[in-house]
Amino acid sequence: MIHDQAIPDLLALEANAALDEEEALAERLEAMEQLAFIYQVFRAGGRDTQEYGARAAALRTRLEALNQQYYARVRAWLRSGRATGDAIRELLDRYTSYGQADAADLHLDYEPADALVDGVLQLERFEGLATVHHRDIVHLEDTPVRVLLDLVDHVPLEVGDCFYDLGSGLGRVAVIVHWLAGVPACGVEIQPDYCGYARRLVESLGLTQVRFLHADAREADLSRGTVYYLFTPFKGGILRVVLARLQAEATHRRITLCTYGAVSLVVAQEPWLRPAAGAAPHEFSLGIWRSR
Ligand SMILES: C[S@@+](CC[C@H](N)C(=O)[O-])C[C@H]1O[C@@H](n2cnc3c(N)ncnc32)[C@H](O)[C@@H]1O
Repeated sequence: MIHDQAIPDLLALEANAALDEEEALAERLEAMEQLAFIYQVFRAGGRDTQEYGARAAALRTRLEALNQQYYARVRAWLRSGRATGDAIRELLDRYTSYGQADAADLHLDYEPADALVDGVLQLERFEGLATVHHRDIVHLEDTPVRVLLDLVDHVPLEVGDCFYDLGSGLGRVAVIVHWLAGVPACGVEIQPDYCGYARRLVESLGLTQVRFLHADAREADLSRGTVYYLFTPFKGGILRVVLARLQAEATHRRITLCTYGAVSLVVAQEPWLRPAAGAAPHEFSLGIWRSR
């Protein structure tokens, strides 16, 4: 029977003291996934396995409380102003396979680094709604952290640069890039609830160099950017207008455009941009383009 294995698995997890170590986030997340499955197995087993089901649920709750404790400590450290970009990078590197020799260069999955960022930024508390609807607007989805590690590794971000996230959602990308690279960052977001949340987020973190414009990217002031990022925020006519606006910006100064998702395949056709590296564009890799 299937719960013949579930019982020893549960006992092993209950006995695993390493899960209590605050920084064992990746191991805890894996254990929590396993516990969710074990819980379902016991539930299906009816009365006989009810007690085990309750134990699996209790352990899961305890591990989640440890995660929250860890997130709160990291958040306090980040708010203290003592966290350097290098130290933040070291922390994120612990929870991603990005950069490891045997890791795939495509960015396909969310990793424990994403759970850490969401927990620290308390993004799971967001309860707002998308209220602006248009066929070309893409719904909210987060860039995996590993894409942003790739970005700061391969796009020089120096004094004088200003990073723009076009379609900035709850503000995650702008905050992470600012933390890692130290440059001012600006998000542009069409949904009022998302933008309001991002603004409150940076205020609560004391980040004065990250701001959010509540605007349609077709109309927002883009004049201060040097590096722009698009994680497939819109398509069709909206994308065409925004790319034309970026092309116009590029007549005043050299700009870099970074892309992730299906938008990369469209941007690859723009004659005013050249790819920064030789690799063919792919939905799940970071595209980096420079204006000619
Ligand atoms: C796929 S999400 C990307 C979120 C964030 N940039 C990230 O990478 O994690 C796309 C975001 O673009 C926003 N968006 C869509 N059309 C927009 C427009 N015309 N102007 C500004 N924001 C827009 C959506 O509301 C959504 O928050």
